[in-house]
Amino acid sequence: MDQGDTPRRFRDSECAEILRGLEAPQKRLPSKYFYDERGSELFDQICELPEYYVTRTERAIMQAHAAEMASVLGDDVRLIEFGSGSSVKTRLLLDRLDHAAYVPVDISGEHLHKTAQALSERYPALDIQPLVADFTAPLQLPEAGDAARRNAVYFPGSTLGNFEPAPAIALLRNIRALAGNRGGLLLGADLQKDIGELEAAYDDTAGVTAAFNLNLLTRLNREFGANFAVDAFRHQARYNSEHGRIEMHLVAQRAQDFTIFGQRFSMRAGETLHTENSYKYTLDSLAELARASGFETLRTWTDPAQRFAVQWWRSRSAAQRLAA
Ligand code: TRP
Repeated sequence: MDQGDTPRRFRDSECAEILRGLEAPQKRLPSKYFYDERGSELFDQICELPEYYVTRTERAIMQAHAAEMASVLGDDVRLIEFGSGSSVKTRLLLDRLDHAAYVPVDISGEHLHKTAQALSERYPALDIQPLVADFTAPLQLPEAGDAARRNAVYFPGSTLGNFEPAPAIALLRNIRALAGNRGGLLLGADLQKDIGELEAAYDDTAGVTAAFNLNLLTRLNREFGANFAVDAFRHQARYNSEHGRIEMHLVAQRAQDFTIFGQRFSMRAGETLHTENSYKYTLDSLAELARASGFETLRTWTDPAQRFAVQWWRSRSAAQRLAA
């Protein structure tokens, strides 16, 4: 990845996407640019914050129920993980699966190959088929050596919640196509809860999430030649109850202008750049999403406070859907 001081070359499509967001009445920046080297470091710190219950809660659910999850997946499974990162939670499953194949999918090839290397040392019998890809587009899976395998996609971290509803359903339908009629999806999804608890999780007292959000502007300045006055923005996390989502914004502290790709934009004091959404689900809204994308929710594992849910969605065949 380009970490230099000079603007990197950008594709027209990237440029158009950024400009489109800034021209809207509510200015918006694409959240995919959060994850440069500094952003990835800050994100790892977010996951360990006392206020950020998400990672800890999901890990505890996985620890408590991994054996049952593994038996639902089945020993002959080919487990396809979306956004595998360092595969920490996945080990809990791999520890309990015999003869499985594992396809970690990640956009960062470097990260992926390091992880695959570490996993092959720990699981010498595991058939690991790393795939460098953007899982938001339809995937071409590696040739299956063993046609008897069932495909199951593992999509943890409530990453689904960072997609708008229509792209989320499109992504789930792609997953359904990968899973085939005999497979399914093991999904981690964050649940609706007390607003104070939600807002604190995205606005910690140590200021790590604020630094993560502001780093987006630093990156746009460095790599895309923008000139945001980073100090003149403040991080804000707010729950939008109409849409059931946490929104992250950068609030202009004074009236100001900035330029990017030679285009000039003005902001009023208090106007915001909307940078991220994190949708929060109910068990009902998850069942609805499953149905809309060709699955049925067969199992739900949750923590005692019902903060987070891990669910097993089984593919519904066309015949089942017609009969229903
Ligand atoms: N999907 C997780 C969540 O929404 C992690 C995440 C994605 C996140 N973008 C974020 C966490 C921005 C904090 C800030 O909680």
